[in-house]
Amino acid sequence: MHHVPVLLDEVVKYLKPETGDRFIDGTAGDGGYIKEILRINPSAKILGIDLDQVSLDKLSMQLAQGNLSQRSELVQANFRDIKRIAQEKSFVPAAGVLLDLGFSSSQLDDPGRGLSFQTNGPLDMRFDPHQKLTARVVVNTYHKPDLVRIFKDYGEERLAAKIAEEIIICRKKQEITDTRELLAVIELALPKPVKYKVADYARRIFQAIRIEVNDELNSLKIALPNIFEILEPGGRMVIISFHSLEDRIVKEFFVNMARGCICPPDFPQCVCGKNPQAKILTRKPVTATVGEIENNPRSKPAKLRALKKA
Ligand SMILES: C[S@@+](CC[C@H](N)C(=O)[O-])C[C@H]1O[C@@H](n2cnc3c(N)ncnc32)[C@H](O)[C@@H]1O
Repeated sequence: MHHVPVLLDEVVKYLKPETGDRFIDGTAGDGGYIKEILRINPSAKILGIDLDQVSLDKLSMQLAQGNLSQRSELVQANFRDIKRIAQEKSFVPAAGVLLDLGFSSSQLDDPGRGLSFQTNGPLDMRFDPHQKLTARVVVNTYHKPDLVRIFKDYGEERLAAKIAEEIIICRKKQEITDTRELLAVIELALPKPVKYKVADYARRIFQAIRIEVNDELNSLKIALPNIFEILEPGGRMVIISFHSLEDRIVKEFFVNMARGCICPPDFPQCVCGKNPQAKILTRKPVTATVGEIENNPRSKPAKLRALKKA
């Protein structure tokens, strides 16, 4: 399935692509936002970054067909290196930077990537196939306490210990190599009354393993200050996240950048001299409308936050 970009109007509203000339999309994917930015602002240039070369190759062809290659540049990399890449490609300072986290529908639908338990595929889950760590390695070699931690921290899974235990038992008999096998192991671990909800458990466990494989939270933590640094004064950053762990990281970073004085409240006057470095444009995270969710169920968990550099 072709990826439908979520919250497209809201991205345009907060990124204001009509008012700048250099934009960066750190998660280019199928290029939904890239094409829209280039359409709205005929003099804008955009740098697209993605870990997935397959997505970039498809996007590159589409941009060429639309005569947009001259105004766009695509780089296969991790967005945690955004500062270096933007400097190398002369995209600093940038008017706006965008991250639309996680995976695209095209990636989810490709059984070879092992992101989905709806179809069978190898336990892979890497965005970047050059990387060594795969889901198969996590599932078959991680010690139980590490599996429990991952399932709890990244999947917010209550039955983390039970599911980890079942994985250890099953993998002793035979290596767990594909997504349907893992689904079956998860089902085995569940107490009878909740077995019918196996898809909910599997979704959380698959999410947790994917976050571990791609080191997603660390990439986000590293990227945020670097994105802020390369923005021009008045430049905007827009981040779309899909689960509470990511959203919390974005929220805390934004609050910190927008905070002024950090002196203890009982100080008679400010001694820190800290001024706000940014303005938060979205007091609450922006979410999809009922209409958008009906048309694109993927948009349901999406949370958009935007920040403007002072
Ligand atoms: C939700 S999709 C983006 C879809 C895109 N906005 C569109 O309209 O088609 C997320 C993309 O980010 C990429 N990605 C995930 N983590 C990344 C990282 N740390 N660095 C670079 N790309 C990453 C994935 O490979 C995927 O293509």
